Amino acid sequence: MAFGLQVNPAMSSSLSNPAPANPAPCNPAIDVRYVLTHDAGDDEYARLLPQLNPDDRARAARFLLLKDRIAFAAGRILVRRLLSQHAPEPASGWQLTQNAFGKPALAPHPGLPDLRFNVSHTKGVVAAALTFGREIGIDVESLDHPVDFLEIARSQFSFVEVELLESLAKQNQRDAFFALWTLKEAWTKARGAGLSIPLSDFAFTLDPLGICFSPQLAEDPHAWFFLRDRISPTLQLAIAAHRRPHERLTCSKHEVPLTDLF
Ligand SMILES: CC(C)(COP(=O)(O)OP(=O)(O)OC[C@H]1O[C@@H](n2cnc3c(N)ncnc32)[C@H](O)[C@@H]1OP(=O)(O)O)[C@@H](O)C(=O)NCCC(=O)NCCS
Repeated sequence: MAFGLQVNPAMSSSLSNPAPANPAPCNPAIDVRYVLTHDAGDDEYARLLPQLNPDDRARAARFLLLKDRIAFAAGRILVRRLLSQHAPEPASGWQLTQNAFGKPALAPHPGLPDLRFNVSHTKGVVAAALTFGREIGIDVESLDHPVDFLEIARSQFSFVEVELLESLAKQNQRDAFFALWTLKEAWTKARGAGLSIPLSDFAFTLDPLGICFSPQLAEDPHAWFFLRDRISPTLQLAIAAHRRPHERLTCSKHEVPLTDLF
């Protein structure tokens, strides 16, 4: 927990409830849902497919690997269901668009709240974060990833972060690397430009959790909330969300059973 974010304990949550009749348009809250997909295979994919619109079905079919098709399909369905929990529009009714860097967003829906969302997937999990009227980014990574993390940090992170990692005992470096990586990716996704922003142009501290920016980015560190959390012992999660002065965001995190998406 950091910068005033409160995290509710993970619990199973259904996405089949209808949207509240009067959704709060400016509730400074972040709703995070995730689906575990470890056990999903051909049968589960076949049950996800009918929930996709024709464009997304065609896009899903272009992925070579079944796990990537499942991740994309589950992410799209999860987002649509989540949007429909916060505004009175059926899941199939939302029009999505994307920015020049590929960040999906809602097309303008006059009369409905300004809902913003972001999606992330990695081995065995798909996660989505939704909020109102502010930029948001989410990243999930598996700590099992067989990567030379110090090498990646030295070539891509800021020198402050490399120093932080090198100062830690060996057994703590992997966890710290993935905490930094997910925070960094979540922030670039909140900004909407993804990894086109050089990862060495900003630096996180982990204890306390905080960020500083190079002058080129012209960003105010106080204008951002961050959350660093785990979905399971091997799945790291990070959220970045824009924050107005003196605002306190709350964040809830719920697991959604894969079968809820069928
Ligand atoms: C955004 C990015 C970091 C995601 O990397 P990844 O390894 O696929 O990571 P994740 O699983 O966490 O995120 C994937 C999801 O992020 C979302 N996303 C895509 N581009 C995004 C962006 N620019 N900003 C925020 N979110 C983005 C999508 O929902 C995507 O899932 P989907 O394709 O299934 O809908 C990477 O794709 C990137 O840096 N893109 C921008 C690079 C660029 O300059 N593109 C220009 C040409 S379009």
